[in-house]
Amino acid sequence: MAGLYLHVPFCGSICSYCHFARTARHDGGLRRRVVEAMVAELDLRRRQCPALTAGSRPLETVYIGGGTPSQLEPELMEALVAGTVGTLPAAADLEFTAEANPETLTADLARVWRAAGIARVSLGVQSLDPDVLTLLGRQCDPATARKALDIACASFDRVSADWILGPGLRRASLLAELDEAVDRGVEHVSLYILELHEGTELARAVATGALTLPPDAETESLYLACVEHLAAHGLAQYEVSNFARPGAESRHNRAYWTGAPFLGLGPSASGFWGRRRYSNEPATSRYLARVEAGEIPEGLIDPLDRSARRLESLILPLRTAAGVPLDRLPPGTLDLDRGAREGLWRLADGRMRLTARGFLRIDTVEERLAAALG
Ligand SMILES: C[S@@+](CC[C@H](N)C(=O)[O-])C[C@H]1O[C@@H](n2cnc3c(N)ncnc32)[C@H](O)[C@@H]1O
Ligand code: SF4
Repeated sequence: MAGLYLHVPFCGSICSYCHFARTARHDGGLRRRVVEAMVAELDLRRRQCPALTAGSRPLETVYIGGGTPSQLEPELMEALVAGTVGTLPAAADLEFTAEANPETLTADLARVWRAAGIARVSLGVQSLDPDVLTLLGRQCDPATARKALDIACASFDRVSADWILGPGLRRASLLAELDEAVDRGVEHVSLYILELHEGTELARAVATGALTLPPDAETESLYLACVEHLAAHGLAQYEVSNFARPGAESRHNRAYWTGAPFLGLGPSASGFWGRRRYSNEPATSRYLARVEAGEIPEGLIDPLDRSARRLESLILPLRTAAGVPLDRLPPGTLDLDRGAREGLWRLADGRMRLTARGFLRIDTVEERLAAALG
């Protein structure tokens, strides 16, 4: 299996919590330059690895993320897809996803995206509560988000929607929002517990006391309530932050968790190809300068040592509902019965699988595994 990730770094404005590689300062000229550079980056990588064109690994999944891919004008999205996806051999059942922000998803844009081959859309809803959207610094109001959900569900084969568990949440309205999304046709939900990143507006507001986040116990209880609620709708938890109807799971994300090869293009994109992992320059200006000088735009990354690789090979599958076979665990040192008693994991059919509580405490699970690996 092979995946392709394309990073579009442009946003309409910067949300209060976001630390991704993105910029709100752009115009048509910069957007075109970045698209051309991503196409050129693929050519540079082809020269490094001719197998890319040979078709020995047809593309199974494509994911256009960001930033905000729906900030690209239709002709630039067409050029990006034609110059990258269009030049690579693809499997007949290619999964092709793009992320959209609700305020930029129109029926016209959806038609252009479908014609370009995009059949799955991931919509960054985050909340349908106007106060929460304001705290998150979103450009979108609930009515616009609802309209975008309807356009997405009417236009694409599969629709995923993102929610953030962060400031200002009220349990009853959050659960009602998830009900509403499912009723409108959403088959996949990504539910992220807010991470506070230094340098963001939200981190500053918390540091100065202008904003208080809910206590961890409250967020955790909300998360567990959402897990149950989504399960009752038929959307099972299949990864720490992901829920889907059977068959609607994201195949692209699965590649990350199973260690399958994928190619990343664009600022900050990372990849795992030819047994090598890499990460591109995050700053758009540096990325452009490197590609336009004919260089592969990778930044420095620390290669994982043997024990870090071993830990990763266990913790990544443990992030998923499939878990890991018991015979892959370090013998003797991990107290399996204790974790099972504490409700962090279940032991059955020769496998260790995390419970919803274990997914919530994935950091604790990782610490225990690291200690067991020595
Ligand atoms: C790559 S981001 C951007 C997607 C798109 N631009 C948007 O805003 O919807 C994908 C998702 O990551 C989640 N996310 C971003 N920053 C986060 C943070 N600090 N903590 C938790 N989740 C976050 C949001 O739910 C977001 O929809
Ligand atoms: S959350 Fe999405 S729209 Fe907001 S700044 Fe980050 S990438 Fe841009």
